Amino acid sequence: MSSPQLPGAPFLARRGDDLWLDGVRLSEVAAEFGTPLYVYSRSAMRAAAGAYLQALAGRPHLLCYAMKANASLTVIRTFAELGLGFDIVSGGELARVIAAGADPAKVVFSGVGKTRAEMRAALLAGVRCFNVESEAELLALSGVASGLGRTAAISLRVNPDVDAKTHPYISTGLKGNKFGVAHEHARAVYRQAAALPGIRVTGIDCHIGSQITEIAPYLDALDRLLDLVEQVEADGGTIHHLDLGGGLGITYTDEQPPAADLLVGQLLARIDARGHGHREVLMEPGRSLVGNAGVLLTEVLVLKPGAEKNFCIVDAAMNDMARPAMYQAWMGIVPCHQRSDPALTWDVVGPVCESGDWLGRDRALAVQPGDLLAVLSAGAYGMTMASNYNTRPRAAEVMVDNGRATLIRRRETIDELLRGELLPD
Ligand code: LLP
Repeated sequence: MSSPQLPGAPFLARRGDDLWLDGVRLSEVAAEFGTPLYVYSRSAMRAAAGAYLQALAGRPHLLCYAMKANASLTVIRTFAELGLGFDIVSGGELARVIAAGADPAKVVFSGVGKTRAEMRAALLAGVRCFNVESEAELLALSGVASGLGRTAAISLRVNPDVDAKTHPYISTGLKGNKFGVAHEHARAVYRQAAALPGIRVTGIDCHIGSQITEIAPYLDALDRLLDLVEQVEADGGTIHHLDLGGGLGITYTDEQPPAADLLVGQLLARIDARGHGHREVLMEPGRSLVGNAGVLLTEVLVLKPGAEKNFCIVDAAMNDMARPAMYQAWMGIVPCHQRSDPALTWDVVGPVCESGDWLGRDRALAVQPGDLLAVLSAGAYGMTMASNYNTRPRAAEVMVDNGRATLIRRRETIDELLRGELLPD
């Protein structure tokens, strides 16, 4: 029986009193692998990518998964098997693409501060395109590529100055943000790029923010991008591909983002209507491919009812899942096995020594110590943002595929945390 009210349905579902993900009972997975534990559904990831791929079918395209959302090797391999490329933002992420056996020729390299060493590594690996974010970066890249006797294919990441109407920390396409080349400056930078050694202009790129729940800001940004393409080509340049960024939101609570195929359909229609239908389309989604495919399982350690607040203290904390502490993000929290007792209102908090260490506030839950809770929609920006604060080893990760659960990352050990530290005499 599926539970459409759960974000992550139909892969995440309540059957009787128990929570299941992709054919496994989550309490059994926790019993086998321990907590805190990230559990992902491969079927849900494949379905999420399928929605984009279906809408893009029939025209040249490359869907580049923004692996900052979830960079585990098995996740990368899952998407590589579907033919996806990758959006990376560091040499470390490039190393992950290679370690997962994916193709660097399908990689776009984004990011506002690439080091020369990272540029070199990406050129030698043969990445498909650098998304260049400033004039200074363009000059540095030209120098590095010429020095290696290589040519760097580039897009300019244009800052279109549109409001993605999302949390200020994850809005990236406004003039006041650090990202991209200002829209009104981009034409001149394209002219400059055309004359630089070691540089070949190939595309144009934008990314306006994350957890976007409306189509209008995308269309506004696209229009600005297409205006620029027309200007660059009037100047004699060639823009082969349009990279429309990522940013599509997911449902955490009551958000109603457009489905990926609806968004893509509208973008393609606008591209066609403006006579740009021959160009290859790239997109860089992260969250919408993995967010609702994962949960974070955690065990209730202690209950601390109080005069003002009831605290439910669990074994996962802000170091495992930073989003609530960092963005006041609301994430669903449900028991893995439902009790029939009356619910009380709890703040679900971790053991870290900060009042900012919370996962959910004022949640109605029937819980007892030893119960398992699932933090929902935890597949994106969970494990990748995890830290070792309070010398807490990072959680283990499990991939579930249609009834089979496989460990894909061992729980970190304290020895691993101490390795690399030096005690000088
Ligand atoms: N491309 C670029 C250049 C990006 O900067 C990002 C995300 C993406 C693609 C993927 O965006 P997505 O489809 O995942 O929205 N940690 C925050 C989200 C930060 C997003 C940063 N950039 C969070 O937990 O909400």
